[in-house]
Amino acid sequence: MLLVTGGAGFIGGNFVLDWLAGCDEPVVNFDKLTYAGNLDTLKPLERDSRHHFIHGDIGDRELVSSVLAEFRPRAVVNFAAESHVDRSIHGPGDFIQTNIVGTFGLLESVREYWSKLGADERLSFRFLHVSTDEVFGSLKASEAPFSETRAYAPNSPYSASKAASDHLVRAWHHTYGLPVVTTNCSNNYGPYHFPEKLIPLVILSALAGKPLPVYGDGQQIRDWLYVKDHCSAIRVVLANGQLGETYNVGGWNEKANLDVVRTICRILDELSPRLDGQSYSEQISFVQDRPGHDRRYAIDARKLARELGWKPVETFDTGIRKTIEWYLANDGWVENVTSGQYRDWMKHQYGK
Ligand code: NAD
Ligand code: DAU
Repeated sequence: MLLVTGGAGFIGGNFVLDWLAGCDEPVVNFDKLTYAGNLDTLKPLERDSRHHFIHGDIGDRELVSSVLAEFRPRAVVNFAAESHVDRSIHGPGDFIQTNIVGTFGLLESVREYWSKLGADERLSFRFLHVSTDEVFGSLKASEAPFSETRAYAPNSPYSASKAASDHLVRAWHHTYGLPVVTTNCSNNYGPYHFPEKLIPLVILSALAGKPLPVYGDGQQIRDWLYVKDHCSAIRVVLANGQLGETYNVGGWNEKANLDVVRTICRILDELSPRLDGQSYSEQISFVQDRPGHDRRYAIDARKLARELGWKPVETFDTGIRKTIEWYLANDGWVENVTSGQYRDWMKHQYGK
């Protein structure tokens, strides 16, 4: 049995769906259901007895401890976090609370549970912490991609809170011996991605005839990984990662934001053309830049390939097409997530 936290979110939801599609080991899915958590994503598992959903906060020691005692998982995979950089700029409090204080609470509950396991179970237990490339800060154009030994230099409240959580996880291993592994992944995209993030936002705004907001000059670079490739990397690290080690996960797909937006427009022009015959790229609108916007991220994923044999399946071209096709085919999911709270955020961030 696995305990997955944040499994109603974008990556966690994909992970749970893929896990149960690939094996019969049950999952306890523990999620607070913030605005980003969505049970619709888990609908295919509604009648699946291998999936147990628990509504709760990772910082709730009593609840987490009782869930651990009841289900006795062999591993915890921690996706739960506040994840949106722009929201962290508008209101960092929730990020400090969940990503730092919440991770601390979770580590303590897990440590207590783990310390009482029998010797064999204690040895094989794993706490896998899902982190981000943003903890490394911003790369210059001439610099090599981030390796695992790169110094942490987070620049946003989000990345600082994730960096803090990574340090806690590391310290719980070194001090208490908790068997942890950490993954630092680049930008994900794919099905069930909440449309506050660039790729789903652009797909849905294009189809709705709205402006496609590009921050600053649109030349910031992100290294894109199809979400199912991230999920396969996590499975590999969970199975064979070395205790206390960190693994960078990335797709070798560095793209400037403006190129990503233009690619989406080009594929939409082909799959769902505008009625007036114009290209969706006519809707591109340059808007004020994100404060402290990191210029470039890029991941060196060679350690994961060399030591654990992982490599991504999708290229950006195949993955982005699949993603667009998924959004075109799943307007019911989109309708449900773009409700009241979502509209409030869009108004706050982009004005009318
Ligand atoms: P998301 O915002 O889509 O989902 C986060 C999930 O965590 C939601 O279901 C939410 O309800 C839940 N959650 C939030 N606070 C919680 C709490 N206190 N207790 C329990 N559940 C809580 O995020 P995502 O994009 O799926 O990211 C998942 C993890 O992967 C995060 O830790 C993020 O930092 C990391 N990550 C994301 C990316 C990316 O590109 N999205 C890349 C690298 C790493
Ligand atoms: O690098 C991994 C990180 O990727 C994860 O840790 C975060 O949880 C995840 O949200 C993501 O962060 P980014 O800030 O890179 O993702 P976002 O989709 O918000 O933005 C991608 C790029 O696009 C970024 O350079 C900002 C830009 N952007 C974003 C939005 C929402 C725009 O130009 N316009 C927009 O409207």
